[in-house]
Amino acid sequence: MRIVVIGTGYVGLVQGACLASLGHDVTCVDINTERVQLLQKGEIPFFEKDLPELVLQGVDSRTLRFSSDLKEALAVMPQIVFICVGTPTAEDGSANLSAVQAVAESLGPLLTSQTIVVTKSTVPVGTGEKVLTWMGRDDISVASNPEFLREGRAVQDFFHPDRIVIGVEDDNAEQALQQLYAGIDTDVLVMNRASAELAKYAANSMLALRLSFMNEIANIADVTGANIQDIERSMGHDSRIGAKFLRAGAGFGGSCFPKDVMALEYTAQEAGYTPRLIAPIIAVNNDQPGRFVQKVIEQIGSVKGKTCAVWGLAFNKGTDDVRESPAIAIIEHILHAGGHIQAYDPRAVETAKHILGDTINYAASMEDALQSADILLVLTEWPEFSSADWSSVKQSLHSPVICDAKNFLPHAQLAELGFQVIAMGIPTQK
Ligand code: NAD
Ligand code: UGA
Repeated sequence: MRIVVIGTGYVGLVQGACLASLGHDVTCVDINTERVQLLQKGEIPFFEKDLPELVLQGVDSRTLRFSSDLKEALAVMPQIVFICVGTPTAEDGSANLSAVQAVAESLGPLLTSQTIVVTKSTVPVGTGEKVLTWMGRDDISVASNPEFLREGRAVQDFFHPDRIVIGVEDDNAEQALQQLYAGIDTDVLVMNRASAELAKYAANSMLALRLSFMNEIANIADVTGANIQDIERSMGHDSRIGAKFLRAGAGFGGSCFPKDVMALEYTAQEAGYTPRLIAPIIAVNNDQPGRFVQKVIEQIGSVKGKTCAVWGLAFNKGTDDVRESPAIAIIEHILHAGGHIQAYDPRAVETAKHILGDTINYAASMEDALQSADILLVLTEWPEFSSADWSSVKQSLHSPVICDAKNFLPHAQLAELGFQVIAMGIPTQK
């Protein structure tokens, strides 16, 4: 099928490159001309596992093209146009739809009535309707096909999704989207457009709620002497609860959970319902990095004047994205308390520099970050961190203290080596 994808960020580029690899003819459009030039050379503007190979393959086989000229891109007469632009948080907490609106307004005069417009951006209920208005057209089919990928696992999530959700108002759009995804072996859930739009916010908010709930239990464990890892094991064994997405720590991050939870709250209030469960998800999460630093300070006395080695800046393993990363918030708390930071991340040093600038030192390797450091904080769950050479880490540090913000390190092994391990919801052994 002939496809145009608008927006070449984490979602648009993955969608474009993966659809091209399924044999579709894909043109990706972005207003960022630098980004388009980079992509035309087969280079990608951010780190995402397995994506560079797919982009190169698509460019080489000419099934994947990039353009900054929407009109030129639409000359292929696409059957489907995907809108994959950003929907960040506006000042009032709602989703800022200005990029979606700009795209719809540009598409209006250019499309034939045979083209189906599909919102893949995360957009509040009712946006499909607005897209029609912004296009100034009533002869075009607008569908919703929300994206559920995780950064760091985006390509794998595209080819092996838990489900594909299609929100449609007519059979034509349903058939086109069914045909498009025929190469993916999963359940395709068909519903109306409003349900698909809300289903995306519901999923992200449920996942975020789960994490904030587990972080609340970790905080209760901290004041009662229980161990959150045992509680996770017990809860995970309950098939009604399930074992995934239960890991407590110093809070969740990323570009979407916080913004989508806030946008859901805003949507509900606008529609006349004041939800009671949504706002605490964010409140708990906002406090968690500070609680983590507080726990560290309580355990070791003070961080004032201390050099803290940091491993991990990205909000998640497998990405260079630091948007809403708890690592950034933790570092800011430590700086505020008078500590010094020397940080390493396998991918996210450059992106972190945009936020932290020269307030911290950046290290070129895990070992480098440990030079003359007093303690070590591990803030992102990169696999190389959990399999570090702990004996040599112990030799490098002035004090054998490891602070695990993600509760993912081998705590028993570390304790045996004589480390003091500090983590949320886990009693600290000295
Ligand atoms: P992003 O910021 O990485 O990329 C957005 C891209 O759109 C940028 O390259 C930007 O230049 C381009 N753009 C903006 N206005 C444009 C216009 N008028 N014409 C053409 N291009 C334009 O965003 P993202 O992370 O890919 O997220 C996109 C949407 O997908 C958001 O609604 C987000 O909530 C949703 N989403 C993101 C993820 C994720 O993991 N990042 C997962 C699921 C859903
Ligand atoms: C999340 C959702 O998982 C995707 O389904 C969704 O498409 C996406 O948001 C989106 O809409 O943008 P993402 O934020 O990329 O994906 O990454 P996750 O793997 O969900 O991790 C989010 C945060 O939760 C990370 O900071 C991670 O460390 C944290 N997390 C995850 C925990 O603290 N504990 C866990 O058990 C799992």
